[in-house]
Amino acid sequence: AKRSSIADRLLAWYDVQARALPWRALPGTPAPDPYRVWLSEIMLQQTTVATVRPKFAAFTERWPDFAAFAAADDAEVMAAWAGLGYYARARNLIACARAVVADHGGRLPDTEAELRALPGIGDYTAAAIAAIAFGRRAVAVDANVERVVARLFAIRESLPAARGAIRQAAGSITPDARAGDLWQAMMDLGQAICTPRAPKCLLCPLAQDCDGRATGAPETFPVKAPK
Ligand code: ADE
Repeated sequence: AKRSSIADRLLAWYDVQARALPWRALPGTPAPDPYRVWLSEIMLQQTTVATVRPKFAAFTERWPDFAAFAAADDAEVMAAWAGLGYYARARNLIACARAVVADHGGRLPDTEAELRALPGIGDYTAAAIAAIAFGRRAVAVDANVERVVARLFAIRESLPAARGAIRQAAGSITPDARAGDLWQAMMDLGQAICTPRAPKCLLCPLAQDCDGRATGAPETFPVKAPK
């Protein structure tokens, strides 16, 4: 894969093809509100975009910012969370908003390390928020990004051991500017084109860069652990 052209090509595709999602700023506009990025990333941890959409709208209408959310009634938040599953996320959401207000003056911190110290925020979510909301050059690898990168570089190691190589490859193509858009572009690519079973390489803006495609069997990446 030609590292230098991958980010440029993917960002150009994203500028035209990005899904318009309510927690995203339009391409080319300033970063979206950190509160909305945080809320969406927590909701999306184990839940599909289609399910998250109406819940995100309801939450942001009822609680528009950290101050409002930190003051929310716990039982009301838990009831509003119904349908999203994994209720520990809702409890962490409340704890996180209260920590942001109590310890960070009501503003989400802008470094990965500080973000990771907050309830409900792990490695992926910290990197995603740092890149998307704060423009940092952070490497946010979720399942879609993992698949796209494993294919781009035809990484032959099997999961989970391959995660180190995938992360390193992702880091090698991370641009100084717009890292957040790059990961969101990979999420959209992974959702619509670089799909698990039958990737639509003819539609892919990275087809010419893709070592996985060159093998003739891109769908075999990432390689699963032998049973
Ligand atoms: N999944 C997790 N974060 C996402 C985002 N920002 N856009 C689309 N899907 C996502």
